[in-house]
Amino acid sequence: MSDDSRSSLSGGRTAAVIPAAGRGVRLGPGAPKALRALNGTPMLIHAVRAMAASRAVSLVVVVAPPDGAAEVKALLDTHALPERTDFLVVPGGDSRQESVKYGLDALPPGVDIVLVHDAARPLVPVDTVDAVIEAVRDGAPAVVPALPLADTVKQVEPASEPGMPEPVVATPERARLRAVQTPQGFDRATLVRAHETVTGNVTDDASMVEQLGERVVVVPGHEEAFKVTRPLDLVLAEAVLARRRANDGF
Ligand code: C5P
Repeated sequence: MSDDSRSSLSGGRTAAVIPAAGRGVRLGPGAPKALRALNGTPMLIHAVRAMAASRAVSLVVVVAPPDGAAEVKALLDTHALPERTDFLVVPGGDSRQESVKYGLDALPPGVDIVLVHDAARPLVPVDTVDAVIEAVRDGAPAVVPALPLADTVKQVEPASEPGMPEPVVATPERARLRAVQTPQGFDRATLVRAHETVTGNVTDDASMVEQLGERVVVVPGHEEAFKVTRPLDLVLAEAVLARRRANDGF
């Protein structure tokens, strides 16, 4: 067993880093995406509560827009959050990767499992969070929740000139593809090493660990862990919240 995997089995703390520094331009004009309201509560607060809902998570680090750390701190102060969880706010960077790095830099000693969770996935259920943590505790250096795809996926190459159709170059076998969500869970030392050594543009943290040659495994994701990206996703998110409220009523 490597030193890295031993540390994740030693019963240390689990922290969640929430990169929330993106502008979310695909949602349309307005406030940074993480600060948009869902049912009157900022998306970021939903995401923070989703992480803090896990009894295993004792610290949540929110990575705020570079000029918005004070505003985010004030938001956390004015919304009810579990007493047992600690919260920290740090300013983010130009890319998601840089924002996550700043979040990792803020982790205290004693944290040995790290979740990285997009603020843009406010409704992930606690069972999914716990399943990711459990798989890291069981020895996987990196764990991603993921779902099978409904759509067939085509790989294309750029059109020969603007306005022309894009040529299809391949159709990967759909049964072997997964749509990956967050929180992604990591042995802390492995994720820190990935952020120190892997460069280039990546869209998730697990792919950096893959580039180190470390094992990344998948656990079942959840349909409610979808990413709020486009205006229609806001409608869907509010419908999910309404359904939860109706179910809580029984
Ligand atoms: O752009 P995308 O939807 O992939 O962003 C995923 C997450 O990364 C969002 O929660 C966004 O706020 C965050 N992000 C960030 N810093 C950036 C860009 C994106 O924290 N510079």
